[in-house]
Amino acid sequence: MNNSSVSGQSVSAEQPPVLEVKNLSKTFEMGRGFKRTKVQALRDVSFNLHRGRALALVGESGSGKSTVARLIMKMYEATSGEINYAGDSILGEKTSTEALAYRRAVQMVFQDPFGSLNPAHRIFHHIARPLLRHGHISDQNSLKDKVFAILRQVELDPEISAFKFPHELSGGQRQRVALARTLAVAAKVVLADEPTSMLDVSIRIDVLNLLKRMKDEQGIAFLYITHDIATARYFAEDIAVLYQGQIVEWGACAKVIDNPQHFYTKLLLSAVPDAHVRFDEVSAEQAFYLHNAEKIRQISAQTSSEIKEVAAQHFIRVHDFSSLNQ
Ligand SMILES: Nc1ncnc2c1ncn2[C@@H]1O[C@H](COP(=O)(O)OP(=O)(O)OP(=O)(O)O)[C@@H](O)[C@H]1O
Ligand SMILES: [Mg+2]
Repeated sequence: MNNSSVSGQSVSAEQPPVLEVKNLSKTFEMGRGFKRTKVQALRDVSFNLHRGRALALVGESGSGKSTVARLIMKMYEATSGEINYAGDSILGEKTSTEALAYRRAVQMVFQDPFGSLNPAHRIFHHIARPLLRHGHISDQNSLKDKVFAILRQVELDPEISAFKFPHELSGGQRQRVALARTLAVAAKVVLADEPTSMLDVSIRIDVLNLLKRMKDEQGIAFLYITHDIATARYFAEDIAVLYQGQIVEWGACAKVIDNPQHFYTKLLLSAVPDAHVRFDEVSAEQAFYLHNAEKIRQISAQTSSEIKEVAAQHFIRVHDFSSLNQ
């Protein structure tokens, strides 16, 4: 559990990060004139992604998780802040070679794999195309060998799956194809936005295990966006809890989940049903956070730039909860 760093607090970084997000903010402006409104989707978000490690970005709906991923993908422009890949800023003017190299190195995998697959093309094409565009494929035979090898890496039987269309596969198989494409371009960073939430519960663990192997065996750095604390704990080394665009708590996954320190994280975890505890057996502590939910949210939403290291590899953003009667 070393070389992790989130929110600018480096925790014994042994290797330089692959991707660095520094003080990233994003404000969406909508409407015109009197009807102009602003949504501050992200405030001062910082974290690092490292080779062969996963950072889970957790938070409720609307907290800004996907916005983080879209900014890294350059689908949106940042209002302020920095994003560095392999030590260089990705923002600003780029040559087409640089832009292509970045697009190849940093890939996104979505909740619904259908959206990223072309219904008119067979699976073979989906893997062959990035290989031809980016790879060093010399002839048709080696192309077929390579496509088949990649499909095997994501545990699809190439003889069966390669010549099917996306709609002929199951949801889990389609997500495997989406992951195979990241392997075809030899991605260094994968931003996985709720990659298992649309899949049957029974196959979620298989896809999660595949992600784990991609991380461990290919050394891919993952940003794992999820609502699901249990899968975050299973897959990721590090975690950051996002609330209203601000990371309120971060650090080593086990530390944050087993011993949350920020009131918002405690509230979030209190709301997670514990498989071992009946719902009518909510502890007095859980009851306190649930009872004060509205106030905790209000206070946690305030902008704070004070950061406290509560333990090694464990940080919180400081908010004043003294008005709550404990
Ligand atoms: N293109 C946009 N234009 C205006 N507002 C946006 C846009 N994209 C996101 N937002 C707003 O930014 C905030 C964060 O949205 P985002 O989609 O990042 O949340 P999320 O954490 O991914 O939520 P979910 O768990 O539901 O996917 C929300 O208030 C959302 O309405
Ligand atoms: Mg989202």
